Amino acid sequence: MAVPYSMGRVIDTIYSAVEQGNLIDNLKWICKILVVVFIVGGCANAGRVYLMQMSGQRIVNRLRNAVFGSILKQETAFFDKTRTGELINRLSADTALVGYAVTENISDGLRSTVAVIAGVGMMFYVSPQLASIVLTVVPPISMIGILYGRYVRKITKRVQDALAKSTEVAEEKIGNIRTVKAFAKEDNECKRYAEKIAIVVNLAKQESLAKAAFFGSMGMAGNLVVLSVLYGGGMMMESAHITVGDLSAFMLYTGWVAMSLGGLTSFYSELMKAIGATSRLWELVDRKPEIAIDVGHVPTAASVLGAIKFNDIQFAYPSRLDVQVFSNLSLSVPAGSITAVVGSSGSGKSTLGSLLLRLYDPNQGSVTIDGEDIRNLNPQWLRTYVGTVSQEPILFSCSIRDNITYGAADPSVISIDKIIQAAKEANALDFIQSFPDGFETVVGERGVMLSGGQRQRIAIARALIKDPKILLLDEATSALDAESESLVQEALERLMIGRTVITIAHRLSTIKNADTIAVLNNGAIVEQGSYESLMAIPSGMFRKLVEKQTIVAR
Ligand SMILES: Nc1ncnc2c1ncn2[C@@H]1O[C@H](COP(=O)(O)OP(=O)(O)OP(=O)(O)O)[C@@H](O)[C@H]1O
Ligand SMILES: [Mg+2]
Repeated sequence: MAVPYSMGRVIDTIYSAVEQGNLIDNLKWICKILVVVFIVGGCANAGRVYLMQMSGQRIVNRLRNAVFGSILKQETAFFDKTRTGELINRLSADTALVGYAVTENISDGLRSTVAVIAGVGMMFYVSPQLASIVLTVVPPISMIGILYGRYVRKITKRVQDALAKSTEVAEEKIGNIRTVKAFAKEDNECKRYAEKIAIVVNLAKQESLAKAAFFGSMGMAGNLVVLSVLYGGGMMMESAHITVGDLSAFMLYTGWVAMSLGGLTSFYSELMKAIGATSRLWELVDRKPEIAIDVGHVPTAASVLGAIKFNDIQFAYPSRLDVQVFSNLSLSVPAGSITAVVGSSGSGKSTLGSLLLRLYDPNQGSVTIDGEDIRNLNPQWLRTYVGTVSQEPILFSCSIRDNITYGAADPSVISIDKIIQAAKEANALDFIQSFPDGFETVVGERGVMLSGGQRQRIAIARALIKDPKILLLDEATSALDAESESLVQEALERLMIGRTVITIAHRLSTIKNADTIAVLNNGAIVEQGSYESLMAIPSGMFRKLVEKQTIVAR
């Protein structure tokens, strides 16, 4: 803060020393002190910037961890309603905005505040008369600043929302690029994305106009102030009220204060932006999942047998409450038995599995395991206890080894022998070993670098590693070729041994293997029994399914 003042002194020294003759000595002395002051100031500034940058990054990190943690803990229904792109946008853009605002921005803001106060103080010290001229412009300028800040807060929320919408489009289309390409929709999708992005630009245009008007008028006001100071100061010099050095110092302070005021307003508008983004973030962080994942009873491993019961279940998906999937469904699966669930497409077979995993809670009725309502059980325990091979198994974009061990509670303790064993039992070892990188082969996003049958066998190995008491198999509807079909089938049969199994079946072979067959229709189990007994019902549902070839005769 003393810089302009000292500069003023330097100038005055030069002026007065010219008369007294010891110019060089005085000048040297003052300049030496100033150089030291500048070096110290520079170091302090560097330290400030470093600390602020780092703490900003740390805050963004923690914020991201909190947001990501909260997102993953939400119940499945939340993801039915919320688009991925929107969540990604909050995770990346909103957190960055907040992180910047509460660190660097606050530091700049504090610096500007101190600079303004000290600058104004020094202005009064140097020349109270001139200072009062300058200060008349402060009230109108701060009014404009406040209005501008409010506007920025409002528009930021809209910009972030529009940005999220465009991220949604980009995320979905890039994530499913094969479908986009298969339908030759690249141009359409580009257009669609451009439309979403155009909304952002339009909003940005409004923001820019406001910003332009604001900073334009600020600059003009600043120049007018400088001009009036020059005018007033000139008058005062005429009457010898002020020295050249004082006037110069004053001018420098005026510039300084003006610059800091500019900093203060941008601090204010950034803060308003962050408030817009923060409200969206806390909404997410504070959201309590309807099915909390880590509360509830954890039974001891030895005490569980694995008898499953669905009792009078009524269920509609939360995102589509008017469509009743189950109206009155009861099904009992004794421990250690295999039950095949059949039914036409869309009858709710996969939904049955989601209820067993407690991805959704039934609206009425209950699901019990060994007589205990699964709502009382710890969902994370439940989901390690129930192994699944889903209809369209999804792998992660890591190595085959990591995908197989994904099922284990602690992947790092799984020995390679165990992994090989699991792969072997899943009939996956041969094709894995045929890859040059073997178990280290990376499978691509969602496992796209593997065939459907290979993906399924890896998913079976993944379920095997988990060694679950209860197994939920959702057979793929798409028929594999006969060979990989029988390989998958064989692997599944091995997987079923010694477990309670619910298999959602489309193939006669699987169905005939089951101890009992349950036929799902119109939201309830309408028939249950052995293959022979169900085929014996003349106009039975099961018979119709077999005749209509909904069940594949392989
Ligand atoms: N996440 C969801 N949100 C809303 N409705 C859903 C959801 N998932 C499935 N549905 C609906 O619930 C019904 C049952 O679907 P489900 O996936 O259980 O059928 P499915 O018997 O497994 O069919 P398929 O044999 O074709 O796999 C369908 O009408 C479907 O449209
Ligand atoms: Mg299904």
